[in-house]
Amino acid sequence: MAHGTRGDRASSDEVRIEVPQGLSFELHGPLLCYPKPDPSEFSRRVSEMSRLGVRGLILGGPKEIGRFRILGKGCTSLVIKAEAAEGMAALKVRRIDANRPSMAREAELLALANRAGIGPRLMGASENFLLMEFVEGYDISSLLDSSLEMGPGPEALRSALRALLLDAFKLDSIGLDHGELSRADGHIMIARDGKPFILDFESASVNRRPSNLASLAHYLFLSRRSGGLASTLGRPDRKALIEALREYKMGPSIERFRKVMRILGLGEGKEI
Ligand SMILES: Nc1ncnc2c1ncn2[C@@H]1O[C@H](COP(=O)(O)OP(=O)(O)O)[C@@H](O)[C@H]1O
Ligand SMILES: [Mg+2]
Repeated sequence: MAHGTRGDRASSDEVRIEVPQGLSFELHGPLLCYPKPDPSEFSRRVSEMSRLGVRGLILGGPKEIGRFRILGKGCTSLVIKAEAAEGMAALKVRRIDANRPSMAREAELLALANRAGIGPRLMGASENFLLMEFVEGYDISSLLDSSLEMGPGPEALRSALRALLLDAFKLDSIGLDHGELSRADGHIMIARDGKPFILDFESASVNRRPSNLASLAHYLFLSRRSGGLASTLGRPDRKALIEALREYKMGPSIERFRKVMRILGLGEGKEI
């Protein structure tokens, strides 16, 4: 996929629905009450969403729900682009069949990440919704898949990766384990200005030993998917990288983080 393809396509056939006036159970039931719409749950959720400050839903994106398109669909929620009082937002809507009672825990963990400057800014949360800053950009997987001509140049790529690995180190430092960075597809977006955003703190925890940096470095540079980056940046010394990550995991420190960054050819990480 070419960078920006998703965003461009979404904006060309986006449909805006005014909240709450433009919403009807018949048409939009499946968006707010997926997968089994119920009229009274729908009207409760419309009020709940209005109270959060959602003024419009912007339908568009790569996933299809009936006749509508949205940003994402997972096992516990749908993600819909939305217009909020504070600006463009991504609205995470709890599925009716979700195995969690509310969005509160995820909101708490995202707020914790936000305090370290990580993740999309949390705008609000309620039982069934999580509202956050909308990230305009592309998924990390397209960096791994695309060829050099389609991707950002090596310098832009290096600077995005530097910022991303620094975020992973910061998460390790505050004891917040994301939990899904070894399969980071769909969990990291790179904004148009190159700023990385780690998404989806649903599976995050403060009760595990964090392994954000090691998991992410593995995904980017050691997994079977890592050929894409290597074609732009060259291959890092695999043995040295594995050894440095092992040391880092035994006792994370800024020195050991810098060593990993050196082996990756991404400088010393001196910006922290
Ligand atoms: N803040 C955001 N800005 C833009 N797109 C987002 C945002 N949050 C999520 N998405 C999109 O929605 C997808 C699913 O998000 P995620 O939080 O993983 O939901 P789920 O856990 O239900 O899969 C992401 O891969 C991304 O494409
Ligand atoms: Mg997810």
